[in-house]
Amino acid sequence: MMNVAVVGTGYVGLVAGTCFAELGHRVVCVDNDQHKLAILRAGKLPIYEPGLEEMVPKNVQRGRLVFTDDLARAVRDSEVVFIAVGTPPGEDGSADLRYVIAVAEAIADALNGFKVIVMKSTVPIGTCDRVRAIIASRSKEHFAVVSNPEFLREGVAVPDFMRPDRIIVGASDERAVEVMRRLYRPLTADGAKFLLMDVRSSEMTKYASNSMLATRISFMNEIATLCERVGADVENVRRGMGADARIGPHFLKAGVGYGGSCFPKDVAALLKTAEEYTTPLRILEATTAANVVQKVRLAELVKNDLGDDLSGKRIGLWGLAFKPQTDDMREAPSVPMSQVLVEAGAEVVAYDPAARHTAHQVLGDRIRYAEDPYQAIEGADALCLVTEWSEFTAPDWERVWALMRDHFLYDGRNLWEPRELITQGFKYRGIGRR
Ligand SMILES: NC(=O)c1ccc[n+]([C@@H]2O[C@H](COP(=O)([O-])OP(=O)(O)OC[C@H]3O[C@@H](n4cnc5c(N)ncnc54)[C@H](O)[C@@H]3O)[C@@H](O)[C@H]2O)c1
Repeated sequence: MMNVAVVGTGYVGLVAGTCFAELGHRVVCVDNDQHKLAILRAGKLPIYEPGLEEMVPKNVQRGRLVFTDDLARAVRDSEVVFIAVGTPPGEDGSADLRYVIAVAEAIADALNGFKVIVMKSTVPIGTCDRVRAIIASRSKEHFAVVSNPEFLREGVAVPDFMRPDRIIVGASDERAVEVMRRLYRPLTADGAKFLLMDVRSSEMTKYASNSMLATRISFMNEIATLCERVGADVENVRRGMGADARIGPHFLKAGVGYGGSCFPKDVAALLKTAEEYTTPLRILEATTAANVVQKVRLAELVKNDLGDDLSGKRIGLWGLAFKPQTDDMREAPSVPMSQVLVEAGAEVVAYDPAARHTAHQVLGDRIRYAEDPYQAIEGADALCLVTEWSEFTAPDWERVWALMRDHFLYDGRNLWEPRELITQGFKYRGIGRR
């Protein structure tokens, strides 16, 4: 059992803190958002993340998990302090480090003996060194700064954290390495790989991994568009490619483009780093450009069929969140897609099982929000599948047909079986399908 502080109780901090408590450590989660703390103290969750709902109250009751705004006390009581605050994109695309720096300063001022300060936030290469310098300039205590990037995916964050492909630790201090090994022992004992390396390589591993995944997606999206033109089906192509062990089956799905809090931001930040070091990353530049086009692709397909002027047309959207099992709307393709449709005059009615509230914060009353999938398509000319929530996999197609005014289906996730739908009379369009 170790005493752990986690500063920043967002998607990453809350999941990491709760999972560490579940693994037997005593965890203090720190945040400066009083509203968030009030929700957590009331036994509720500020985010939607499967599994957390049971794990948070269980560990609070066991006395292994507490929530506070008292950073200094949390630091004093812990031997490991995680920094898990946001690193949002600044105006020029670089990572905005103001929260990380503020927390580093606050940690420095609270140090009372040797601590391991662990960077969980995704930070540009060199940030851990910068944090080390900031703390050293404010404190005479011994400490080590360790890089330990997080690879969890929202929606499956708890299983990802509990059964990671690998745990990356960038550290040079022997004592800190020992602390990190002890901290993660419950997971490594269970078979998780513990990859130790230098701090900068660890920081780079996170950016390079996300950039590679984003690149695979953009690559397949462009291949999909070409498939449409040449009469191939990207779903067959994907199966064929994915069976090659050198390529592997993951992240080859064509769709409406990547969104979320990580890929767009991390790709932009790495491009910014590349610019600073005058080392162009041309492939990554193309990845970004392809994604901008892809995010409005479904809306463009609608306009191809229904005309550039969509006034009087009603479009139903299934899904708003950037992916299933989350309410996260950051960089969600549904946003630019809705904007294109609304600007062309369409009335957009959307349904999402979890993201209605968060979507309203972004899209406001520019679109309408339905209570269930079928309400979203009442009198609709077209249905666009944007997020592949499982409840959209096998809808009651007869009911869908009866509710819609016209019968265009835009399957932004290649979720449905085109032949069946075409036989039923629907006008089906997928991404890169024959
Ligand atoms: N969300 C993901 O799926 C994911 C996955 C891997 C890595 N990451 C990285 O992890 C980091 C955190 O991401 P997130 O999605 O959890 O962010 P988030 O915005 O959900 O959470 C950040 C939290 O930090 C708190 N905070 C900010 N300043 C603070 C301060 N001075 N003191 C205390 N609390 C403070 C905020 O109130 C907020 O609750 C980012 O660097 C991100 O890139 C995120």
